[in-house]
Amino acid sequence: MAGKKKEIQLQATILNQTQWEEMLLVKGLTVVDVYQAWCGPCKAVVNLFRRLKNEYGEDDLLHFAVAEADNVLTLAPFRDKCEPAFIFCVDGKMIDIVKGANGPLLSKKVVAVLEQERKIVAGEMPRPEVQELIFFEEKEPEEEAEEEEAGEQEKYTVVIIKPDAVAEGKVEEIIQTITEAGFIVAAHNEKILNEEEVRDFYRNRSEEPDFEDFVAFMVSGPSHILIVVEGKEAHEVMPLEMSNLCDIHDSVEEASRQLAFFFPDFLKKATGPNVERTLALIRPALLRERRESILKRIEDDGFTIAMQKEIVLTEDQARQFYKEHENEDFFPVLLEEMTSGPTLALGLVRENAVEKWRKLLGPKVIEEAKEQCPNSLRAEFAIDSAPINQLHGSASAGQAAKELEFFFPVEHTLAVIKPSALEEHKDDIIGQVKEAGFIISEMQETHITPEIAAQFYKAHEGQPFYEQLVEYMSKGPSMVMILTKENAVEDWRKLMGPTDPEAAKQISPQSLRAQFAQDILRNAVHGSSTADHAVQSIQYLFGDIDLESLKHKLIYL
Ligand code: CMP
Repeated sequence: MAGKKKEIQLQATILNQTQWEEMLLVKGLTVVDVYQAWCGPCKAVVNLFRRLKNEYGEDDLLHFAVAEADNVLTLAPFRDKCEPAFIFCVDGKMIDIVKGANGPLLSKKVVAVLEQERKIVAGEMPRPEVQELIFFEEKEPEEEAEEEEAGEQEKYTVVIIKPDAVAEGKVEEIIQTITEAGFIVAAHNEKILNEEEVRDFYRNRSEEPDFEDFVAFMVSGPSHILIVVEGKEAHEVMPLEMSNLCDIHDSVEEASRQLAFFFPDFLKKATGPNVERTLALIRPALLRERRESILKRIEDDGFTIAMQKEIVLTEDQARQFYKEHENEDFFPVLLEEMTSGPTLALGLVRENAVEKWRKLLGPKVIEEAKEQCPNSLRAEFAIDSAPINQLHGSASAGQAAKELEFFFPVEHTLAVIKPSALEEHKDDIIGQVKEAGFIISEMQETHITPEIAAQFYKAHEGQPFYEQLVEYMSKGPSMVMILTKENAVEDWRKLMGPTDPEAAKQISPQSLRAQFAQDILRNAVHGSSTADHAVQSIQYLFGDIDLESLKHKLIYL
């Protein structure tokens, strides 16, 4: 009985993340045996630990604990691993690890760390800068093979650098540490997480007692979110000089959810080998005469139209876009054609989109296209009255990125989930907003007053439905949101569908209004009609907000 009591005291049991964090605060060295439920803590080392405790434990600087990998978030990378692992924790950090029940090594390390701790406590030496270990999932060989088959995205890890580390200017340092350890930062996004995002993203911590404080902290300032990929030279563990500065989320099943959450465009980019985006332009004459058939042909040929925008280019815009051709003979004709009416700009996605689109277009000169490649689009969709070819494609991936930015700059729009839809369809609508690749930069549930509604819809004053509209919009809470992405204004309008749900059901049955609107007045959602209106209404509803700071720049390395 006495022996058993001694054993319990020798190794504290860590049952959850909170107890893990409490353990980190204990003075001195704690050696944690990380175990799996099916095999229990490692018995082979207990006698050794007892001996060490007896020999070196009198000044209470040596502690032992056991933790089941499934119970503690920090230990997620150790889940389902057969080999015992012993983590050394000192001064709030994980500083070392011994894998396997290697008694001599454990003993040597315990003695060395303790000696140093004693000196620090006695004031004989300052605490040295210690590198915190961050553990990455080490995959079993068959797991790796499965993952290769399942696709690239499972190899990504999401690292969140939290607001305090960002405020202290530690981002660069952390990124440098990651890359020096052989990992590649594949995408990087600065973002103030909103409450909903924190709750959603950290939902596995929601039962923890301090979760509300944690949410408040996480929304208090910008975080940096990184997608990290293991490079060929990567170490198995990644040393990072930060205890609580960032969170690592690398569970395989969560990977695609996290990517979709923070990097919708990155996910699109990563869903297949060499999935690319390119810019296509349908010039005014073709758009006027054969709009439906060219759009159908593009989709039949395997391209996804990810973004589209109809735009009448001003002369300045056309000059700017075609600057590299300004000295060519055909430049005046090109300018005239491009400013003669609406052009349709398309963001096309598929594997090798740039090259495939160019091949499909065929030669630039219509006569050559007709002679050499009669099945090419420029031959098939030539318009007799127009002197130049009617379709454009980016010349290279780099050019595509620039041209897409020209037609589809990152922008914000105002979106409102109206009172009638809020209670019943809020989650569905928000889910579809995220699925469509929007970032919800701001979101507030608010009861719009009649005065604000009247001002907000002032453009409709005098319409027969104006009074009803004001009354309806102020009769209960709405959700007002700032949505951000490339081409946000137009893409949100497309997702909403036509104002009248009857028309929406006919023309766009997948749209939000087709799904959730009751009638033309209670039509579920609102969106800005132009980028200028978006800025005005965002400022009206959200006050003097710095829109630039909300821009989420995705950097693809
Ligand atoms: P919204 O996109 O918010 O912009 C103006 C709103 O006026 C519109 O959605 C509808 O809710 C409302 N509306 C527009 N036309 C009518 C109509 N004919 N009858 C009633 N309400 C309308």
